Amino acid sequence: MKNIILFADPGIDDSLAIIYALLNPKIKILAIVSSYGNVTKEQATDNIAYLLKLAGRTDIPIIGGTNIPSSGETPRHYPEIHGEEGLGPIRPPEDVKGELTNFSDLYNIIRENQDITVVDVGRNTSLASLFQLGENVSGIIKEFFLMGGAFMVPGNVTPSAEANFYGDPIASQLVLTNLDNIFVVPLNVTNRAIITMEHIKMIQEMTDNPVIQIMDEVMEYYIEAYKKLIPGMSGAPLHDVLTLFLMVNPDMGRTIRREINILTSNDGRGTSIADFRVSSKPSEKNINIFLDFNYQGFIEDFIKVMSSSENS
Ligand code: RIB
Ligand code: CA
Repeated sequence: MKNIILFADPGIDDSLAIIYALLNPKIKILAIVSSYGNVTKEQATDNIAYLLKLAGRTDIPIIGGTNIPSSGETPRHYPEIHGEEGLGPIRPPEDVKGELTNFSDLYNIIRENQDITVVDVGRNTSLASLFQLGENVSGIIKEFFLMGGAFMVPGNVTPSAEANFYGDPIASQLVLTNLDNIFVVPLNVTNRAIITMEHIKMIQEMTDNPVIQIMDEVMEYYIEAYKKLIPGMSGAPLHDVLTLFLMVNPDMGRTIRREINILTSNDGRGTSIADFRVSSKPSEKNINIFLDFNYQGFIEDFIKVMSSSENS
């Protein structure tokens, strides 16, 4: 069982990741940190609250993360991919409002629990703040899984940058420089974590869990959005779900240990760089980049977890 603190910006694939974590018997969510990213922090918070209500898990604290990136600029959101409210066409009911727990409570959660894995599937601003505001969390937290970066493939927001590292490259660089035991799950693997409507329908036929019953409308929106970007695509990539899958099933992926640097300005902003030359050396710190994963294993696990009716 992995004790996780999940940093997220739901967002469609973040929402599916939250549902996957709630239903996965190998995962215990200690808290969810809500931040700006795909949508505003306020919207992300209401979306998290709605998912937790549908899943009957309102006991999980929602921690208030950051509203804007380290640069202080106004963040760009992505309604064309995730919908105006972040759940495709679905809007959480008016009476569902997320109540935020103060960010400082994260330190109590970290002190009171052991063997914590931090999973950050959004911009890294809140995680950088956790490090900047507090004691040496890297020494206490066992490992960090980050969805971010693009190695040897094009980016998804610029020719070379992936959205999470692009959103706050200063924070991403700070995290990669100061923390240890980091596992980065970049676009070169997550682009291939494709889920189709056939998978979703199959899952929905196996369970009447209310949190699963909203999945078809949400995924239809997401898949249509991806079709506009990549005509002919039969499904859409669940970047954030793959990150959680590899966190609990590391043997299903292949990694390389390398230092990572993020460009922070101008045209290269958010670009992730690692040295993959034959002559290059492993990083001094334990920083690992996923290069490949077992797609069939991912699909089978996704269907099994999402169709189980038990919350973990
Ligand atoms: O680039 C993919 C990442 O950006 C995912 O975390 C997705 O949710 C978006 O925020
Ligand atoms: Ca995300």
